Amino acid sequence: MYTQLVEAPEGGIGEARSAEQAIFDDKIDRSITIEPSDWMPDAYRKTLLRQISQHAHSEIVGMLPEGNWISRAPSLERKLILMAKVQDEAGHGLYLYSAAETLGTPRDEMTEALLSGRAKYSSIFNYPTLTWADVGTIGWLVDGAAIINQIPLTRCSYGPYARALVRVCKEESFHQRQGFDIVSTLAHGSPEQHAMAQDALNRWWWPSVMMFGPPDSESQHNETSMRWKIKLFSNDDLRQKFVDQTVPQAEALGLTIPDPDLRYDESTGHYAFGTPDWQEFYDVVKGNGPCNRDRLRARREAYDDGAWVRDAALAHAEKRAARATSDAA
Ligand code: 3HC
Repeated sequence: MYTQLVEAPEGGIGEARSAEQAIFDDKIDRSITIEPSDWMPDAYRKTLLRQISQHAHSEIVGMLPEGNWISRAPSLERKLILMAKVQDEAGHGLYLYSAAETLGTPRDEMTEALLSGRAKYSSIFNYPTLTWADVGTIGWLVDGAAIINQIPLTRCSYGPYARALVRVCKEESFHQRQGFDIVSTLAHGSPEQHAMAQDALNRWWWPSVMMFGPPDSESQHNETSMRWKIKLFSNDDLRQKFVDQTVPQAEALGLTIPDPDLRYDESTGHYAFGTPDWQEFYDVVKGNGPCNRDRLRARREAYDDGAWVRDAALAHAEKRAARATSDAA
């Protein structure tokens, strides 16, 4: 990196920021998106690659809990809707892997990091989907949380990530709506169906609240990610937005949020709520959640079973390249 030696204000010699760093900082300050061909600090590239690849892993692993119910959906219409949603998630993963690849890391390396257990994906997908109400609750809460987290990311400083998320967010709205519709049907159905919806809310509420990451006081990346405008809001700010938005929805459904400390605080205009079980969160993130092993096993099997597709596509691409070369000769 090119560095100029300049007169430091207090006398003596200081190291000025490199010219590239100054241009980068100015772009961030003026909210000009950073593009793949722009100079960027290694640390900026590294944290972007970390976040975008883990986001992509989350989309792909997130297909598993709901995919489990495609063959057991209660009607053809619900089956078709769920198939469309799960296929959308695959597409979200591909957009995000493509955005991450612009940072110089090939997809194979990212896939290997996931399958080896080195890379993270969202904690929320390590919980089991026990009933059909879980499928609706995932759409309602998890995709609802994802929308709150992802809308600001459409304005983040890294161009390819921001642009990938514009399409993702449009589809998330459909995901959240179809989930809410499932839960609403159950909540206003028979007493047994209402009980099924309440049971799902009881199990998915706190893992959804924890999806936004550790409390700001324990977040390793909040400060730098917000300085670089990768994150426009902190974990706790987004978490509060999610709670404020979701509590009235639960009330409209006649469902009870499983938090005895939940209450509306007139003085702040927000809902005060209890403390998540952060030990559970860190255990799940470390790989000790109810479904972590199943999820990675399923991804490893899918990767192995799909080897023939990759080989065929590669052979086809090589054949086409060879033909193009011979035609050009
Ligand atoms: N699950 C797993 N790991 C998590 C986590 C979660 N819910 N929240 C935080 N972590 C990890 C972070 O990755 C980081 O570990 P690392 O350094 O090894 O990467 C560590 O905990 C510290 O957390 P920080 O808050 O400091 O980390 P971030 O600044 O990265 O914030 C985040 C975490 C808010 C999840 C941020 O990464 C983010 O906004 N990511 C993009 C959105 C995303 O990934 N959403 C996941 C769900 S995707 C989804 O819901 C799809 C939908 O279609 C259903």
